[in-house]
Amino acid sequence: MADTDGIQDTHDYHLDIAQTAETFPLKGCQSLDWGMKNRLSHIFDPKTGRTVMLAVDHGYFMGPTSGLERIDVNINPLLPYANTLMCTRGVLRSLIPPTFNKGVVLRASGGPSILKELSDERIAVDMEDALRLNVAAVAVQVFIGGPFETQSVHNMTQLVDQGNRYGMPVLGVTAVGKELARDAKYMRLATRICAELGATYVKTYFVEKGFETVAAACPVPIVIAGGKKLPEKEALTMAYQAVQQGAAGVDMGRNIFQSTAPTAMIQAVRKVVHENMKPNEAYEYYQSLAG
Ligand code: 5RP
Repeated sequence: MADTDGIQDTHDYHLDIAQTAETFPLKGCQSLDWGMKNRLSHIFDPKTGRTVMLAVDHGYFMGPTSGLERIDVNINPLLPYANTLMCTRGVLRSLIPPTFNKGVVLRASGGPSILKELSDERIAVDMEDALRLNVAAVAVQVFIGGPFETQSVHNMTQLVDQGNRYGMPVLGVTAVGKELARDAKYMRLATRICAELGATYVKTYFVEKGFETVAAACPVPIVIAGGKKLPEKEALTMAYQAVQQGAAGVDMGRNIFQSTAPTAMIQAVRKVVHENMKPNEAYEYYQSLAG
């Protein structure tokens, strides 16, 4: 029998305090359910509404990429500085300590290797496994204008349907083929299609001219991929320009883990993304940490 001794009358209703109605810090996400918002809060810092995602999923089509040969040695020491880790389930289970308690964005599409036509991807993770791994989102590549455009869009919409069922955000990753122009017009098209078809947030590439129109036309948060390795100052400048022009952060891989000082680089990227540190200052900060 429940112990009911000592139960007191309720009385403290704070009648003079209105119940708070917090606004969610991410654009286009107000109408999402609690579980979806809670997962997004493991990706985007609720204080800044921005994220530094550390992308290390390259092996799913490239094999042991330079800088990712030993994820346990090279990447795990960077985890304290990332808001989120983006990786495959193989790496997650075999190399990432389960005590890592920030968000994980799980690579959920795949199929072809660099030896084949890259856009011919399928869904590569069951939603049940993503839930079992307790990840914060799943990521799927979308190849707008590619030879398997419809298949890749269908991969995303299937994951969106499953994600909506279970409260799992879906990151639509706009992939650019060699034959496609990397300009604002293309990025507007690709990111908007992802958002319209249900992606919770979208990853794209930064473009020098007109990125603010890409961010403005996309109704959900946008993060930028780092792309190929650049000199550190250029990569910090790109991150700065992207967040100033409307990106909600970066999903950066090679420009962090292929840096000569990855731990210093990720901390400098954090300063740019979360504190709006200017590129010159961030580069000095990088140099001071890199010694
Ligand atoms: C691979 C990806 C990568 O995660 C993405 O490209 C980010 O890494 P990088 O900054 O090295 O470009 O989605 O398809």
